[in-house]
Amino acid sequence: MDEKNLVAESLAQILDGQLSTEKIFELLEKPKKIELGDIAFPAFSLAKELRKSPVDIAKELAEKINGESFDKVEATGPYVNFFVSKSDTTTSVISDILKNSANYGSENLGNMRNVTIDMSAPNIAKPFSIGHLRSTVLGESISRLYQKLGYNTVKINHLGDWGKQFGLLITAYKKYGDEAKITANPIDELLKLYVQINAEAKENPEVDDEGRAWFLKMEQGDAEALRIWKWFSDVSLLEFNRIYDKLGVTFDFFTGESFYSDKMDGIVETLESKNLLQESKGALVVDLEKYNLNPALIKKTDGATLYITRDLATAVYRKQTFDFVKSLYVVGGEQINHFKQLKAVLTEMGYDWSDDMTHIPFGMVTQGGKKFSTRQGRVVKLEMALDEAVDRALKMINNKNPELPNKEKVAQQVGIGAVTFYDLKTDRMNGYDFDLEEMVSFEGETGPYVQYAYARIQSILRKAKYEANADYDLHFAGNEHWELIKLLQEFPETIKRAADKYEPSVVAKYAIVLAQAFNRYYAHVRILDENDEKTSRLTLIYAVAVVLKEALRLLGVEAPEEM
Ligand code: ARG
Repeated sequence: MDEKNLVAESLAQILDGQLSTEKIFELLEKPKKIELGDIAFPAFSLAKELRKSPVDIAKELAEKINGESFDKVEATGPYVNFFVSKSDTTTSVISDILKNSANYGSENLGNMRNVTIDMSAPNIAKPFSIGHLRSTVLGESISRLYQKLGYNTVKINHLGDWGKQFGLLITAYKKYGDEAKITANPIDELLKLYVQINAEAKENPEVDDEGRAWFLKMEQGDAEALRIWKWFSDVSLLEFNRIYDKLGVTFDFFTGESFYSDKMDGIVETLESKNLLQESKGALVVDLEKYNLNPALIKKTDGATLYITRDLATAVYRKQTFDFVKSLYVVGGEQINHFKQLKAVLTEMGYDWSDDMTHIPFGMVTQGGKKFSTRQGRVVKLEMALDEAVDRALKMINNKNPELPNKEKVAQQVGIGAVTFYDLKTDRMNGYDFDLEEMVSFEGETGPYVQYAYARIQSILRKAKYEANADYDLHFAGNEHWELIKLLQEFPETIKRAADKYEPSVVAKYAIVLAQAFNRYYAHVRILDENDEKTSRLTLIYAVAVVLKEALRLLGVEAPEEM
């Protein structure tokens, strides 16, 4: 039986109806310190009825309880503290892990219902930013967490490939573009054109008008406009796909904003038929005053659509196509207002499923304490940064373990894993400073640190020629193993908490704590000592490895067997 249930039922028996088992269950707490036991019952709630002090009640309860199922039951102040049977818990946790292996902690909460995850979504003709990296790795991890809990996830890359800026870019290309240069170095060249034409448009409204006109042509299906736009898109995707390959991230649906260009009339018609559109200086807006939000601009004076118009069409399309139970948008904190407006307009349209949409914002990354900015040309070359992470990992391997087979592959796993892990261990709303040296270090709270703990276990198991078996009789004389058992037991809950809060950092922090606890165990206990506990110790660290690997997998980080 689950330990908390066991405690609740034991207490219910002696309380004889004064509190129900369910109520007791709800009151149970985790003691503040491990020395105080595993489960605590606070006696306050009984004080009034029994007309005794909580301290006295706790004392009495502790004396009366049947201690058979526990190692110890004692009163500390107003709490009854239960020390669960270490040997029972150890056996049940380990056998659970060995039987289920990587499926330990999996659940079927989702019944395979669909969760759509809008993630990554870089803008074509612009560099893949560090914000898009965050969205990519967060989205990937959230997808893995929800799959683990039995949902079917649909990862969607809502590429930014439509809008007036591409009209301006065509204008720039027509004026100064050089096809060969763009083909050789697409994003850099297109960015240059973009910066130049924006500066010009500011000075000269005619340039701006021209850009607008090109975008209108795009919206009307003009062949030349679409040909140039498609080319910009294709060359951009070549670069983006290289980054996805390096990160090992794939998508189920790769549809940019342009995909919705023919689906927006329907939205505008619905808004019209529901009397939600108002004219404002020639443009069409939805008033959102009752939500305390600015009006949503749906259509400009010249008839061009906007980002939010496309997102409205997208949301409706996703509901129709995937009938999602949750629709998640992993997009930076700058767009909080946009997503509030989006939801509010959908609510106004009468779509109650807008309640199932959640914006998952995240904080900003800096470098040397300064903001990254595309406009000012202070762009991180993300692809180069990933390559550098791999180089650094390779150097460290060459130092530590030059004989390692598959060095390049492992360096890839460690370098990329380091960047991903560092990003994900940060509370999502916090930003962080992009510092490769810290990320790729084997010390501190890093991906390589966790990977290294896993590889070390594998090497011990190889040395011992260990074969896992769920039926080994486990026994530990001391208590050194107990911290690990408690942590392993917390893994399923940890996954649920992370999914619930859309917070992979919960899993990343857990992985660090587990790796640290293993390293302490390794420092204090001679695992390979020949005595009758050896198999138990090996089985324990085998279980730790299963969970470490699965925690890393949930973050999208690989676990090399050797490094
Ligand atoms: N392309 C946008 C950007 O880079 C993000 C798009 C997010 N997804 C969405 N459905 N709006 O800012």
